Amino acid sequence: MINFKNLVEKYGSPLYIYDFNHFNERFAELRKAFRGNKLLIAYAVKSNSNLSVIKNFAKLGGGADCVSIGEVKRALKAGIEKYRIIFSGVGKSDNEIREAIERDILFINIESEAEMLRIENVAKNLGREARISVRVNPNIDPQTHPYISTGLHENKFGVDIETSKRIYIYAKRSEWLKPVGLHFHIGSQLTKLSPIRDSAEKIGNLLRHLKSLEIDIKFFDVGGGIGVKYCDEVTISPKDYAEAILSVLGNLDVTIILEPGRFLVANGGYFLTSVLYEKKNGNKRFIVVDGAMNDLLRPSLYGAFHDIEFISNKDIDLSEKSSADIVGPICESGDFLAKNRDVPVAISHGDIFVVKSAGAYGFSMSSNYNTRGRVAEIALENGVDRIIRDRETFEDLIALEDKYI
Ligand code: LLP
Repeated sequence: MINFKNLVEKYGSPLYIYDFNHFNERFAELRKAFRGNKLLIAYAVKSNSNLSVIKNFAKLGGGADCVSIGEVKRALKAGIEKYRIIFSGVGKSDNEIREAIERDILFINIESEAEMLRIENVAKNLGREARISVRVNPNIDPQTHPYISTGLHENKFGVDIETSKRIYIYAKRSEWLKPVGLHFHIGSQLTKLSPIRDSAEKIGNLLRHLKSLEIDIKFFDVGGGIGVKYCDEVTISPKDYAEAILSVLGNLDVTIILEPGRFLVANGGYFLTSVLYEKKNGNKRFIVVDGAMNDLLRPSLYGAFHDIEFISNKDIDLSEKSSADIVGPICESGDFLAKNRDVPVAISHGDIFVVKSAGAYGFSMSSNYNTRGRVAEIALENGVDRIIRDRETFEDLIALEDKYI
């Protein structure tokens, strides 16, 4: 049991807490499911980019899936080996491409023919060969929230199968491009296996075709996306996930790359916030807390549900509840952490709300909106807590502007 009250007393509120033991268990679970196969677990850095979190996965032998050169640099800084780093994303700039080639990472994922030509050009100017992979869009509905669906032609990601074949054939002939990987990622928070299986099958057939053209694909990158339980979702087990992918690959000799983010870090993260006030507008009950949409955007942006536990410092009865919206101090009606949630009637100023499953896309999507400093991040490991990012001060927020006035 984590002592949330003590942590708020020690580090203040609001606060992110990460249970590293949980992260490690999730990592081990995935590795175990694919046991006996060549595997690289490339942690999706965007889900939680804290250097200590990345370092923790580096220690376990993980790689990194990055979507900006900033993320690549974070991964390297945190100790991820360069040959375990992948660089994806629909819009890489020339500078980013150049730096990725110079830093000699495992491969760059191509997301359009135009991008391939730019990568070739940058590589040629550097006089160095660029290892590439192609992100193929299988046009399969992942059955998830439309904002986090990526595997349909209507989404901006990847290229269709025919285009990918053209890219591979061109790249094989190019002096400056070396095709080594094949990639797909159909969406995030996937709770159904069939779209993954169907995509793997489609892309697996493409892999066989490419091998028949003597294009030597060494990495079969199945992306991330395994869903987690926020409420009562029935999720995909790592074992079933692995079986679906392995059955498609048969005896093809490739290294499987996974790019999990949420699966590794969501459930081990907690966002702690404290009650400021309670108010009523007509019959509507609001609990105003010190955490807001700038700290945890998912409820506002996706209407996402996060379970919330209520903790009080006082000796009060928490069992009687009534419906309330839990809202932050930001000047937007869309600023809420929960709507129509049953909240204990007796809670009052200073009581703590523990917003669960906040380890993924929590802090990493936070901002300074309303000139609010981003909150501190705390790691918990073997029962010991330690700070891994300081709370931002007002001086931090104005540091890049101050000199201009
Ligand atoms: N690989 C690629 C190419 C991706 O685009 C993503 C996530 C991942 C891996 C990791 O996916 P995961 O295993 O975490 O599902 N902000 C949203 C999620 C956006 C996901 C974007 N891509 C949210 O809070 O739900």
